[in-house]
Amino acid sequence: MTDQDTSSYLRAYLEELRETGAEYLSGQPQHVRPVTAEAAPIVAESTVDQSAALVETLVDIRNDLGDCHRCALGDGRTTLVFGVGNPQAKLVFVGEAPGRDEDLQGEPFVGAAGQLLTKIIQAMGLQRGDVYICNVLKCRPPQNRDPQPEEVEACSGFMLRQIQAIGPVVLVALGKFAAQTLLQNQTPISKLRGQFHDYHGIPLMPTFHPSALLRDETLKRPVWEDMQLVMQRLGLQLPEKKG
Ligand code: URA
Repeated sequence: MTDQDTSSYLRAYLEELRETGAEYLSGQPQHVRPVTAEAAPIVAESTVDQSAALVETLVDIRNDLGDCHRCALGDGRTTLVFGVGNPQAKLVFVGEAPGRDEDLQGEPFVGAAGQLLTKIIQAMGLQRGDVYICNVLKCRPPQNRDPQPEEVEACSGFMLRQIQAIGPVVLVALGKFAAQTLLQNQTPISKLRGQFHDYHGIPLMPTFHPSALLRDETLKRPVWEDMQLVMQRLGLQLPEKKG
């Protein structure tokens, strides 16, 4: 990359951040929950520059969202589902949008798919509180229909700001919608998964959505393969192979 490429890239990135309402750069650690012992083996370092003097926190971003009505989903929601977990997580999971349970409880991935996600996290030797979990959309689409482009346009910048504020080492996109939105392409999830992609300088692993695993058990193996690649990147110990 030439200096000119780098400065065009940075300008475009700052422009994108400004459009979402960001007034300064992110990255300063804040604290809400302690990292548990299970997270201790994570040795990988974030590639996100945490040295910016002017920073925004997850609390700033939540305050900026406020009682959001930037799109029509704000009228139908029970609760705005911002995100949950460690604000300094090395690993961030991004899903599509809250479902019924999440809308009622105000926390992402708490329904059946969420319980399976919790098991996947635990199989990686972590707890939910070690990682951070959020969605591209913060409000439930009616009858869980697919998110509309104007909803993604209004909301996805907040997810980018959340990711920048946390500064994770690795991102996991759960399902086709999150993966295609983050990567800005229409490639099928079956082709995207299994390898790292780049999201604003952070390695991104797309994988199947837990709700797809609930419908099709054969997807469990590829998801576990993807999570083992993620564990390797994080410096987490892989389980010993049986036999
Ligand atoms: N599916 C998602 O993509 N996100 C949730 O929070 C729940 C279900």
